[in-house]
Amino acid sequence: MSQRADIEPFLAMEVAREANARAAAGERIVRFDVGQPWFGAPAAALAAAERAMRSEALGYTEGLGAMALRKGISSWYASEHGLDIDPARIVVTTGASGAFTLAFLALFDDGARVAIASPGYPPYRHILKALGYEAVVVDADVVDHLQLTPALLEQAGAFDGALVASPANPTGAMLSRDALQALCAAMRAAGKPLISDEIYHGLTYDGPATSALAFDDDVIVVNSFSKYWAMTGWRVGWIVAPPRLVKSIEKLAQNLTVAPPTVSQVAALGALTAKQECEERRALYAANRTLLLRELPALKLPPVVSPDGAFYVLVDVSAHTDDSMALSHRLLGETGVAITPGIDFCAARGRHWARLAFCRPQGEIEDGLARLRRHL
Ligand SMILES: Cc1ncc(COP(=O)(O)O)c(C=O)c1O
Repeated sequence: MSQRADIEPFLAMEVAREANARAAAGERIVRFDVGQPWFGAPAAALAAAERAMRSEALGYTEGLGAMALRKGISSWYASEHGLDIDPARIVVTTGASGAFTLAFLALFDDGARVAIASPGYPPYRHILKALGYEAVVVDADVVDHLQLTPALLEQAGAFDGALVASPANPTGAMLSRDALQALCAAMRAAGKPLISDEIYHGLTYDGPATSALAFDDDVIVVNSFSKYWAMTGWRVGWIVAPPRLVKSIEKLAQNLTVAPPTVSQVAALGALTAKQECEERRALYAANRTLLLRELPALKLPPVVSPDGAFYVLVDVSAHTDDSMALSHRLLGETGVAITPGIDFCAARGRHWARLAFCRPQGEIEDGLARLRRHL
């Protein structure tokens, strides 16, 4: 086995595997684990895919993706963010996951050091390691909503770039507009690239999120149809890159994957017309969030920071355990409630944290809370 493949598993997916096995064996599992909406793609996405499957050959698109979708995403930036983004700068990818690989490879040479906040989405550091880079993990502070700040970057030592997500996984916490602007300015002053993972844009509960593109045309933005549009399995996302990087990304994309999946790109273009349906879904998550924020403190599972967006709440489990992994196994085994242990997201403090995803029907959230109440 190569050293680059010697990475940690993505524990959320490991918990999910055990939960899936139990569900397949007939157990009724409450799924607080995976950040995956229970409903599928919006109706307009399905209709577009169905039409295309009946009438088109669905061969490869260009490596950068179908121009129709790139233009659709550009129009979405105009209508949602008031930003004028040239479709030539938009690269369609195989989910945000595929976007990271392309962006990292286009930006960094061997051994590059990339700053990320802890807690954070585990694959950031695992992808970086697999590609021969070093994740510089800096412990974020609760007073900063567990987010990356210019001050934290100063503690990171030498680094070649940074990655931030707002709203973030596992916290749902957002950087304020000013804080994001300050981070963009700090990275520009340092002359280092900032990658802004905006996959949870659209899923916010106290006002919209600002794109880093509002402050700086040189940032690399990653986004995806997986979350707001609930299209996880379709594997379609995008990058907005500075023009100077597009050619490199195109060559990488052509050689690594030829092109992103064509039928998914057609569906994604349909999804861009489904704002009303997506907003109705957001209202369901908002109700789940309200319910959890009301009930969790009484279970001695207080949120660590306010979940401003996404569909996660990071809770403090220290009233029950100092081993969140053991707690997550125990809860799954004894109550059928699947949660994700915090150690997946933060090696140092994660023993005292767990992540609950609330993108499930409200009845299931209520059932989960009732089971936790009986057990804890
Ligand atoms: C913060 C963050 N970025 C990226 C991804 C990957 O998303 P995709 O399905 O688009 O590959 C996820 C998935 O949960 C995520 O939480």
